[in-house]
Formats: sequence, C-alpha cells, structure tokens
Amino acid sequence: MALYLKSALLTALSVHGVSGAAVSRSQGNIFGDNGWHRYVRSPNNTILKPQSTLAGNVTGNVTNPNGLLGQGSSPTVLTRTEGDVDIPSIVVDFGQNVVGIVSIDFSGSSNSSVGFPGLKLAFSETQQYLTNVSDFTRSDNMAAGQKFTNGTDQIAVSNEPYTWKDQTGCQHGNQVCSDGLHGFRYMKIWLDSIESDVPYTQPYGSVSISNIELEWSAYLGTPDTFTGWFECSDEDLTRWWFDGVYTTDMNTDLFLANETDPRDSATPTLQGKEVVFDGAKRDRDPYVGDLAVAALTSYLSHDNPEATRNILADLANHQRSDGWIPPASINNYTLDLFDYPMWWVVCTADLVMYTGDTDFAAEYYEVMKKTLDTYYGQNLTSNGGLLNKTNGYGDYAFLPRSGVITYYNALYVHALKSAAQIADILGHPTDSSSWSSRASEVSEKLLTRNWDTAVSAFFDGGPCPNQAGDTICNVHAQDGNGLAVLSGAVNTSLATSLLNYYGNATSKPYGNAFYDNDLLSEGFSERVYAFISYFELAARLSTPGAAGSAIEEIKRLYGWMSTHDPEITFWEGIGPDGSPYEQGFTSMAHGWSTGIVPLMSNYILGVQPTGYGFKTWQICPVTDGMDLTWAKGEVGTPQGSIQVYWSQSEGGNFKMQIETPKGSSGVVCIPTGSSKGSRIFMDGKQVKQTGNAATVGPIATTGDGYRVLKVDGGYHTFAVER
Ligand SMILES: *[C@@H]1O[C@H](CO)[C@@H](O)[C@H](O)[C@H]1NC(C)=O
Ligand SMILES: *[C@@H]1O[C@H](CO)[C@@H](O)[C@H](O)[C@H]1NC(C)=O
Ligand SMILES: *[C@@H]1O[C@H](CO)[C@@H](O)[C@H](O)[C@H]1NC(C)=O
Ligand SMILES: *[C@@H]1O[C@H](CO)[C@@H](O)[C@H](O)[C@H]1NC(C)=O
Ligand SMILES: *[C@@H]1O[C@H](CO)[C@@H](O)[C@H](O)[C@H]1NC(C)=O
Ligand SMILES: *[C@@H]1O[C@H](CO)[C@@H](O)[C@H](O)[C@H]1NC(C)=O
Ligand SMILES: *[C@@H]1O[C@H](CO)[C@@H](O)[C@H](O)[C@H]1NC(C)=O
Ligand SMILES: *[C@@H]1O[C@H](CO)[C@@H](O)[C@H](O)[C@H]1NC(C)=O
Ligand SMILES: *[C@@H]1O[C@H](CO)[C@@H](O)[C@H](O)[C@H]1NC(C)=O
Ligand SMILES: *[C@@H]1O[C@H](CO)[C@@H](O)[C@H](O)[C@H]1NC(C)=O
Ligand SMILES: *[C@@H]1O[C@H](CO)[C@@H](O)[C@H](O)[C@H]1NC(C)=O
Ligand SMILES: *[C@@H]1O[C@H](CO)[C@@H](O)[C@H](O)[C@H]1NC(C)=O
Repeated sequence: MALYLKSALLTALSVHGVSGAAVSRSQGNIFGDNGWHRYVRSPNNTILKPQSTLAGNVTGNVTNPNGLLGQGSSPTVLTRTEGDVDIPSIVVDFGQNVVGIVSIDFSGSSNSSVGFPGLKLAFSETQQYLTNVSDFTRSDNMAAGQKFTNGTDQIAVSNEPYTWKDQTGCQHGNQVCSDGLHGFRYMKIWLDSIESDVPYTQPYGSVSISNIELEWSAYLGTPDTFTGWFECSDEDLTRWWFDGVYTTDMNTDLFLANETDPRDSATPTLQGKEVVFDGAKRDRDPYVGDLAVAALTSYLSHDNPEATRNILADLANHQRSDGWIPPASINNYTLDLFDYPMWWVVCTADLVMYTGDTDFAAEYYEVMKKTLDTYYGQNLTSNGGLLNKTNGYGDYAFLPRSGVITYYNALYVHALKSAAQIADILGHPTDSSSWSSRASEVSEKLLTRNWDTAVSAFFDGGPCPNQAGDTICNVHAQDGNGLAVLSGAVNTSLATSLLNYYGNATSKPYGNAFYDNDLLSEGFSERVYAFISYFELAARLSTPGAAGSAIEEIKRLYGWMSTHDPEITFWEGIGPDGSPYEQGFTSMAHGWSTGIVPLMSNYILGVQPTGYGFKTWQICPVTDGMDLTWAKGEVGTPQGSIQVYWSQSEGGNFKMQIETPKGSSGVVCIPTGSSKGSRIFMDGKQVKQTGNAATVGPIATTGDGYRVLKVDGGYHTFAVER
C-alpha cells in the first residue's frame, strides 16, 4: 500500500534548495543513502544460526564446542560414561532474542541396547534465568494433567545422522516430548535423560552435533519491508526505534493452536491468521490493549495492518450481549478486563486513521456503539456519567481497582473522542456530538472528583485496601495522569503540574514507576511498565516545555532495557532494582513496550494523521528542550510516504524539508521560539507575519512558540532565522 517516493524526492532535492536559511546544507543529500539500514535488527533470512557458544558454560566432556556452530569440519561431541560426575553441557547464544523452531543436525550417537543417549534442552531469554529448566515453556501454562514436559525439551538421539526438529509433541506416545516453538536468546544442551522416558533414552553415551539452526517464525523485518523509519542526531534514540520495531516483529506471527497460550486460547476463528501477539515467549495470545502501542509500531514501520485488523475483527465478533468485548481469546474469550473494550475502540480509530480502512469501521460501527452506550454507558455509570467500577474485573496490570478510577475515566474520554472521530468520518453526527459531549462531561467531573490539589495531580481515585465507599486513597498513578493529558481532559497548566509532580515522585534509574507509593500493594512504587509509560511520555511530548523531561525519562527506561540482558528487545515489565518484574516468567520481548517507535515518529519527526488514511496530516516536530540537532525519516501512508528532515542550530535557526503525497494536505508547525523577530521562509519565500501570507501558505494559527502553516502535498522547504 505505501510506496516509497525516494526517486521523486531525489529529483526534488536537485531542483529545490533550502534558501533563506543561514544553516548550511551540510547534512546534504539526506535521503540519498540508506544509512538507516545498519540499525535494522531483523535477521537477513528465516534460517538463523547461533552466534557463539558461551565458553565459560561448558561442563563435562565436550569436545570441539564450536563444531555445532556449523562452521568447521568436525562436530561437537558430548560424552558421558557411567561414573562421570560432570554432566556434559554447552550453552549456545543466538546473539539476540529470537523466536521460532530449533533444529539440530546430528552426525551420530553411540549405540546401546538400553535406549538412545538422551539430550535435554532448556531455553531462556536471559542468562540470569538460564538453568536446567527453561525460563518458560507452554507446558508451564497447561493444566496439571495436560503438561507434556516439565520445562525441558527431550531428544532420543538416533545412531544414524539426521536432523531433529523441535515440534510440539512426543516422539513415543507421551514420552520423549518437546515443547515446540520458543522465544529465547540462550539454549542449554546437556546429555541426560528423564526417568519417565525409559526405555527410549538413557543418560549415558555420546552424541555428535554438526549444526544448529532456528527457523524464524515471526515477521521478517528486513530493510526492504520498511515503509517507515527514523533517524536522529542521538544514536541511542535511533537504535531504540529499530529495536522497538524488532520487538514487535518478533510478536507478529501466525496464530496456531500448537504455539499459542494453551489456556483455552486456541480458536478456529484465528487459526492460521497473522496476528500481533503480546509476547514472543509468552503468552502468545493477541490482546487488544497491547495493540494501543504495538499496532502503532507496526503501522509506522511496515505495511502490514492485517495482523492488527484480524484481532480487532475477531474480538468484535465475540462481543458479549451486554456490549463488553473480550481482551483476547484466552479462557475462551472470557478473561474479565474492564479497560480493554475501551482500548478496542481506540485501536479501531487508530486503524482507520493510519490505514484509511473505513469499511472496517462501518462493519463494526454497531459493535463500537454498543460498547460505549450499553456496556459503559448504562449499567456502569453513576455520579453523573463517571465510570464507577463495582465489579471484580481487572485491567492491563490485573489490578482489581474499584470506584471512580482516574485511569478508567481518562481512557473513557479518549475512547469517546476516538469514537466521535469515527462517527464523523462515517457520517453519524448525532452519535458524534453525543460522544463528544459525554467526553467533556466526564473530563469536567473527573477533575472535580479526583484532582488532588495538595500535589497538583490526579489521585488514582479508589479507596485504599480495607477502606470502603467513596474514600479516596492517597496514591497517584501514571496511567490516569498520562491519559488525562493525552485525552485532553486537562488544560496545559494542569498538564504541566501533574507531569512535574509525577516525574519527581516516581523517577527510578529504569523509568518512572506506575504508582507513587505502595499503599495499594507492596512494590508498586518500584514497578515500571514501558506500556503505560508510553502515554505519560506522549503526554510530555504534547505539553509545551515538558519535552526535555520526556527524553530524560526515555533515556532511563529504554537505556535500561537496552543495556540489560537480553538487550535489544523491550520487556513486559520492570521490577525492583530494574529486574524483570516477574522473574524468568517475564516476557523480555513485548510489543506493548515499543512506545519509543510512535514517540519518535509521531512527535520527534512529528508526523501524525489528522484525517483517515492520512488524507490530511500534521508535521509538528518537537524540537525544544532537548539536545537533538536533526531528525529525519519516513512514515508510510496509503497514498505514499511522508518524508521529513529537520535540523536546528544552537542559535535557534531551523530548517525542514518535507515530501508528502500529491493530493494530500496538512499543516506544518514551525518552531519560532519565543523570539518575536523570527523570519520564516517557505519554499524560499518569506512568510509574512501579517498581510498577504496566502501566497506562500496561509497561516492557520500561532501556537506556543510555533507558527502553523497550511500546506499542500508535494515537496516543500521551511526555514526559520532568529
Ligand atoms: C545481513 O546482511 C548484511 C549484508 O549482507 C550484513 O551486513 C548484516 O550483518 C546481516 N545481518 C545479519 C543480522 O546477519
Ligand atoms: C554460565 O557461566 C556464568 C559465568 O561463569 C555463570 O554465572 C552462570 O551461572 C552459568 N550459567 C549456566 C546456565 O551454567
Ligand atoms: C571424552 O570423550 C571422548 C570421546 O568422545 C573420549 O575419547 C575422551 O577420552 C573423553 N575424555 C575424558 C577426559 O573422559
Ligand atoms: C545397536 O546395538 C544393538 C544391540 O546392542 C544391535 O543389535 C544393533 O545392531 C546395533 N545397531 C547399530 C546401528 O550398531
Ligand atoms: C534442576 O536443578 C536443581 C538443583 O540445581 C534440582 O533441584 C532440580 O531438581 C533440577 N530440575 C530438573 C528438572 O532437572
Ligand atoms: C513432571 O513432573 C511430575 C511431578 O514430578 C511427574 O509426575 C511427571 O512424570 C513429569 N513429567 C515429565 C514429562 O517429565
Ligand atoms: C504447529 O502446527 C502447524 C500446523 O498447523 C505446523 O506447521 C507447525 O510446525 C507446528 N508447530 C510446532 C512448534 O510444532
Ligand atoms: C467457547 O464458548 C463458546 C460460546 O460460549 C462455546 O460454544 C464453545 O463450546 C466454547 N469452547 C470451548 C472449547 O469451551
Ligand atoms: C449490565 O446490564 C445487563 C442487563 O441488565 C446485565 O446482563 C449485565 O450483566 C450488566 N453488566 C455488568 C458488567 O454489570
Ligand atoms: C460507586 O459505586 C459504589 C457501589 O455501588 C457506591 O457505594 C459509591 O457511592 C459509588 N461512587 C460514586 C462516586 O458514585
Ligand atoms: C486550567 O484549568 C483549571 C481547572 O479548571 C483552571 O483553574 C485554570 O484557570 C485553567 N488554566 C488555564 C491557563 O486555562
Ligand atoms: C520536577 O519538578 C520541577 C518543577 O517543580 C520540574 O521543572 C521538573 O521537570 C520536574 N522533574 C521531572 C522529572 O518531571
């Protein structure tokens, strides 16, 4: 759908120049090279090899440890004779987190009358949780009677050379079983057998391994698949953008009954379809809340919206008669989450804005209406329209919060406004105005009830444990505060104060905690979710003067994850001291933690859709309060790509080039700073502060330190001289 316009832009560049700007064109021919290719983390093809063996982790009699890397002529041999104290073992490292099906080429094994030599495999995303049991296997999530492994995969190694493949299932009845697909970085192999595999394997003998491979199962995000990319003068931010894409790519895969979460998630309506899972290792079930971030990452990097659309359609098709939409297929579509139906609405609006799929919106319009009007609108309202949760449903963090919670209500505002936008697009003005006015009413009442004047931020809103009724616990959460800003429920001055409070109260070396104290539960003030941090970070980048604090927080959050094992991929959650928050069970490659991608593309590059399918757009780069000197990149749209390159010098001079699809139009925000004397140029001609500005683009508005120009599609240059 989205086409590259590289050649068109190159032509344009050779014709136009940024005149009127004192800044030299030292960055030059910016789109002429594909320098960004070097940041792409995807493997080059679907067959991957381990990068190394961990030399310090070899135990027992292992000859030629690197033979299994498949580069030499002789294989790796593991030998164990009765009486050997040390079990032969070896650890291979794939160099980064990967996902797929392992295969092992054996070049033979010792023969014996009492079974083949047994091998056991344990997988882990981190070295910390690499033990004699995998950090997670599907069996770990199975009911007791259904488990077919206890956390290791077993092989009975045949005597003749052959290739073994890690399929889900057992070699003999319910014996010698393997768990199938794994998301991992490290794999430990050792010669041993388990009692229950007798007589098929025995713990002694020798096996020869000549090669190990992984058949990559997820979306292969090679450079040619990118319809969007991002680069800036801070190489860390650039790298994390690509790492975020890789993390979501690892989660974009076919839904298969034998590879998904075994807790009653397999469903014929998704079988064989491409989806975006929550995690690569686990749970491997597509959750709609996760898509609030992961789908944006997907739209902004690859032209692959069907993975998201498949999930939104399937969950909508399972809407309950009272209007509630399941969060995922788990538990046969009955997992009780209170917030996820609202995320369904938001994600559907995002799909329409990014891909222009109004047919989808039309098909599921009644589903959306029923969610907002029947489920949230009728039996769950009280206090004049605010959501007052009284059931035991959980949410993205499985918190069974009750009462008038700020997060639920701020998300409600966000969902109502998103729905109003869809109603406008589809021509339902009555619904649109009803949802818009409900959003305003909820915003106003939320502020009245839940604003804490003592700290100038929102309370979480519910009672403390063991308190009842309408008591408000003295605790503040990241989710409600971030979303209140992002949904426009508060004005700029309140946004500034709540962001200041929140940043100062919850800062950790690994991000901002999701609560400011532990009144609700032990450890909450030390737990960081990159997922919900996204909304706070987007709030900072949307609030004048707060951008510097966003970059500072991003450096802690993404800096932490990218420098701790397994590196590169972003984690489901972070706990005390920056540890994986649920130990080995934690997914270390979670699409919902890839907010760095939309943060950079939507705010630093500044590209956002304002009309469905980017028929109209805004290019409003955030440039103040940070050290960035330039940013460039592309965003794919149904009409073609939007390309942006901006740079700024210390003195405040700014220049920008954009290329947008012909036939589209939008607005461009030009940072003028506080200086009244700035001269603005568009396409080499000075834009008059007053008078006949229309000749070079009419001035739409003047914001806080910005001038906003209306612009038609095509190639344009802008410059500011201060
Ligand atoms: C992919 O191929 C390119 C060029 O052949 C190489 O530079 C790069 O390192 C390869 N990437 C991986 C992950 O193997
Ligand atoms: C691998 O070696 C390191 C360093 O000696 C050690 O800390 C770690 O426990 C070993 N891991 C395994 C799985 O043997
Ligand atoms: C290790 O195993 C090989 C056979 O693979 C054998 O020749 C060698 O003697 C063994 N080494 C020790 C120290 O047991
Ligand atoms: C393996 O050993 C068994 C008995 O110990 C023998 O019958 C069989 O022929 C052997 N097979 C090979 C391939 O050496
Ligand atoms: C793993 O090793 C520990 C001791 O380090 C032992 O208690 C446990 O039984 C082992 N588990 C398996 C599955 O081998
Ligand atoms: C798993 O462990 C249980 C309890 O120790 C045992 O009964 C069962 O046989 C084991 N299953 C496998 C496949 O190892
Ligand atoms: C799961 O089943 C599919 C066929 O539906 C098969 O292609 C795939 O290899 C299986 N996965 C594993 C891990 O066994
Ligand atoms: C799932 O729920 C549906 C509808 O309630 C029911 O028809 C179906 O049998 C259930 N499936 C399983 C596997 O329990
Ligand atoms: C909403 O009301 C309907 C109809 O009275 C009822 O069936 C449903 O359980 C209620 N939903 C909730 C979440 O209370
Ligand atoms: C929320 O509902 C509970 C339970 O019905 C009720 O006690 C409480 O007064 C309600 N709170 C508000 C603010 O309406
Ligand atoms: C922001 O909203 C608050 C609360 O409604 C109000 O008191 C304040 O005057 C507003 N500030 C501005 C600048 O509009
Ligand atoms: C802490 O508050 C001050 C103002 O009181 C503000 O300037 C600063 O940005 C805040 N820090 C964070 C991390 O938000």
